[in-house]
Amino acid sequence: MPYRKRSLMAVVGVLCLAAMLLGACATGAKGTNKLEMYSWWTAGGEADGLNAMYAIYKKAYPNVEVINATVAGGAGTNAKAVLSTRLAGGDPPDSFQLHAGLEVEMYQPDKYLQPLDSLYTSEGLDKAFPKDLISLLKYKDHFWGVPVNIHRANVLWYNKQVFADNNLTPPATWDEFFAMAETLKAKGIVPLVIGTKEGWEAGHTFETILVGVLGAEGYKGLWSGATAWSDPKVTDALNIFKKVMAYANTDHAALTWSDAAQYLVDGKGAMHIMGDWTDGWFTSKSFTGYGWAPVPQTKGIFDALSDSFAAAKGAKNQDNLMNWLKVAGSKAGQEAFNPKKGSICARTDCDASLFNAYLQSAMKDWAADAIVPSVAHGAAAVEKWATSYKDVMNTFATKGDVAAAQGDLVKLCKDNGACK
Ligand code: GAL
Repeated sequence: MPYRKRSLMAVVGVLCLAAMLLGACATGAKGTNKLEMYSWWTAGGEADGLNAMYAIYKKAYPNVEVINATVAGGAGTNAKAVLSTRLAGGDPPDSFQLHAGLEVEMYQPDKYLQPLDSLYTSEGLDKAFPKDLISLLKYKDHFWGVPVNIHRANVLWYNKQVFADNNLTPPATWDEFFAMAETLKAKGIVPLVIGTKEGWEAGHTFETILVGVLGAEGYKGLWSGATAWSDPKVTDALNIFKKVMAYANTDHAALTWSDAAQYLVDGKGAMHIMGDWTDGWFTSKSFTGYGWAPVPQTKGIFDALSDSFAAAKGAKNQDNLMNWLKVAGSKAGQEAFNPKKGSICARTDCDASLFNAYLQSAMKDWAADAIVPSVAHGAAAVEKWATSYKDVMNTFATKGDVAAAQGDLVKLCKDNGACK
C-alpha cells in the first residue's frame, strides 16, 4: 500500500478512536444517531430486562438516542400486526422482536429483513448458541435474528402457601390435578387461574396439555404431519382442557396472563400454566411465594421458544442497529437481560450464579430434557397456522365443543399443507 494512503487511513483511525471515546462513533456514516427497537415487552420483568440491556448499550454508545417502541399485548398479539404494516409501508423500526422458528416467514425475510450470517461469523455467534437453537434460527439457510434468550412454555406455577395449607404437592398427572382441584374448589380457592383476554393464552395452555398427552415425538409430529390431528389422543387432550376450564376463574376473558398471575400473588388462586416470563414478573413484584413444576405429564420435556432481535432491511440507523445486535448477542447483554426477564441465556457461557433458583432449574432441564417447539410463540408453525390454531383454542375455552375444535384443527393442518 502506498505510504500516503496508509497515513491517511491512520489519521481516519485516530479520528474514529477519538470519536469513540466521545461516544460518537455509533453515529455511522448515514445514521441519524437514533436506534428504534420494537417489542411487546411492557409488563414487569420483561420491560426491566430490556431496560437492563439498553443500559449496556447506552453506556457504550451514549450519544445514541434509544427509542423504545412497544405495542403491548402478550405473545405479540398486537405488535406483530402493527409491525407487518410498518414493514409493508416502508417505515421499519431498526430492530424488532422476532421469535426463533417459523414465525420469520410472515415477515417475508427476502424482502424485509437483513440476513445476519456475517454478524454471526464476526461475533462468533454461530458457536455461542446450542445446536437445537441454531437449527431453529436458520430459515432458508440464513440467520435472521440474534437470540437473546430461551423461554419455557410448560410451567405450572403455584402458590406455596396455598399448597402447604392444603397438604398438596405439584400434580404429576392430570388425574392428580383434578383430584387436587376438587379439594381446592371445596375450600373456595380457584384451582387454576387463566386469563384469555388477548386470545393466545388458551392456545398456550392447550399446547402444553398436548405435549403431555402425546409425548415429545407425538406432539412434534402434529406440525410435520406425522401425527394426525384426528388421533384419539388429541381428543383426550381436548377433554382434559375442557375439564381444566371447569376449574378456572370465571372472569378469565377479562384478564391478561399477568392479571391471572396476580390471583396467585393474592393467594386467591392455586395454580397457573404460563411461560417463565412469569418468573420475571413475580420477581418484579417482589413476590417470592411461588413454586414451579412441569405441567402435568410433561416432566422431561421442555416446550421451548426463543426471542431474537431482527434487522430490518432499509433500517434508518444501520450502524447503531448492528451495534445493538452485538450487545444483544453478547455475554454481558444476556447476563443483564435474562435474570430480570425470567429466561435463560441463549448463549451457553452465562454465569449461572446470576440467576435465581427457578432459572437455574430451567438451565438444567434445557440441557437434559427433550426439546419441543412452542406453537403459541412462533417456533413450531408458520404464523398463519399458529394464529388460526390460537383462534380455535380461544373459542374452545368458552364453548368447549370437542368435536368442532378437533375438526377445525384437522382442517388447519390440511390448509397449511402439512397433512393430506
Ligand atoms: C412471548 C415472548 C415472551 C413474553 C411473552 C408474554 O411470546 O416470547 O418473551 O413476552 O410472550 O408476552
